[in-house]
Amino acid sequence: EEELRDQAIEVLDANWERDHSVPSRALYPHQWSWDSAFTAIGLAHHRPERAWRDLRSLFSAQWYDGRVPHIVFDPDVSERDYFPGPAFWDAPASPGRLGGLTTGIVQPPVHPVAAREIFLNCLDRDAARLELEWLYPRLVKQQTYLCEGRDVGGDGLVSIVHPWESGLDNSPCWDGALEAVPVDLSLLRRHRRQDTKRAVHAHRPTDTDYARYILLAANYRDGGYLDEGLIEHHPFIVECPSFNSIMALAELALADIAEAIGIDAAPHRDKAEHITKVLVERLFSPETGMFHPRDVRTGELSTARCVGGLVPLILPGLPEAQRLSLLEVGRSVGFGLNREIPLPSYDRTAPDFDRLRYWRGPVWINVNWLIWQGLRSHGHEREAADLRAAMLGIIRRGGCHEYFDPVDGTGIGAVAFSWTAALALDLMA
Ligand code: DGY
Repeated sequence: EEELRDQAIEVLDANWERDHSVPSRALYPHQWSWDSAFTAIGLAHHRPERAWRDLRSLFSAQWYDGRVPHIVFDPDVSERDYFPGPAFWDAPASPGRLGGLTTGIVQPPVHPVAAREIFLNCLDRDAARLELEWLYPRLVKQQTYLCEGRDVGGDGLVSIVHPWESGLDNSPCWDGALEAVPVDLSLLRRHRRQDTKRAVHAHRPTDTDYARYILLAANYRDGGYLDEGLIEHHPFIVECPSFNSIMALAELALADIAEAIGIDAAPHRDKAEHITKVLVERLFSPETGMFHPRDVRTGELSTARCVGGLVPLILPGLPEAQRLSLLEVGRSVGFGLNREIPLPSYDRTAPDFDRLRYWRGPVWINVNWLIWQGLRSHGHEREAADLRAAMLGIIRRGGCHEYFDPVDGTGIGAVAFSWTAALALDLMA
């Protein structure tokens, strides 16, 4: 493990930039919201001051309405190095951050979970408490924005307005809802993709998907990033099981943080319980035995069997019937918990399973890490130990890549990817 530890530390050091980490120097040269949270979990074992700094700098770019933008742009990186850059997003500048340029969409709120992990792993508890005191009101503000501003369906779940907000960008679970989004390939002539210049095209979302991503981002931008009336003028509004599970887990983490700094934790626990209950009522499918996104515009559940539908396992309050059902799906041939390779992002037996294309098959370490945490919280020690071994094995063999081929374990996507390195450190701690 010593060699892997050194390798992971090298990646984290190389991806540290002034006051934040970048996910990858080549492909993602700015600061990403949920990447910073996962990366901070690993930094806590290596450079705890950087773990706090990463979260602090991200939350310094929080908007007045509480949203935390999915990317904070580095003013020193050229507009040519990443698309869509600040000129495209044209978002109001965040006053708290150098440059202050951001996108206007969000990502899953993993940050309270990260803050709790860093706190638990810190030797200097007093200094860590000061960090928590700074972060807590900002973390709460993010939750409030998501719960209130984004409850488009009115049922207590958060809606996302762009697949990028889920972090599971081109997962097959968005295919149904994306049908309603026109494909305008001329957008790709007006705006040049940069990702496919830096990574293999077949490993990235297709041009059809990308044209839809641009249209959706432009539509939300042109509505001033306002959430009122979205249902009438935005073609993609979806309740994502993974995003909403992370919302509930964030409330549980906030409860622990509140306790650590002497604040009443009960409201957070109540919120977590409520989200869990609605999640089960609205997004669980007895037919497939797992969770699926709901298209708020049509009321329909996606039928695709994607790893995001297993993420509710992270919730300690998940009812027993759903817990057992997710375990069964997890153990099935489609996902293969207990195998040498961690869970793929999409059911291996699906006819359109694609072992190379981003979230349509490949193994991602962050969702596997979340599910590993869930297995442990439910006392499934054997499955958790197998999954941990599978994750460390694939990283040891393939390197700290962005994602992995679920058939032979080859590392694909960006090399030297921060959250893979960070979570490997956490798994070895
Ligand atoms: C990308 O650049 O592909 C990201 O996933 C969008 O956040």
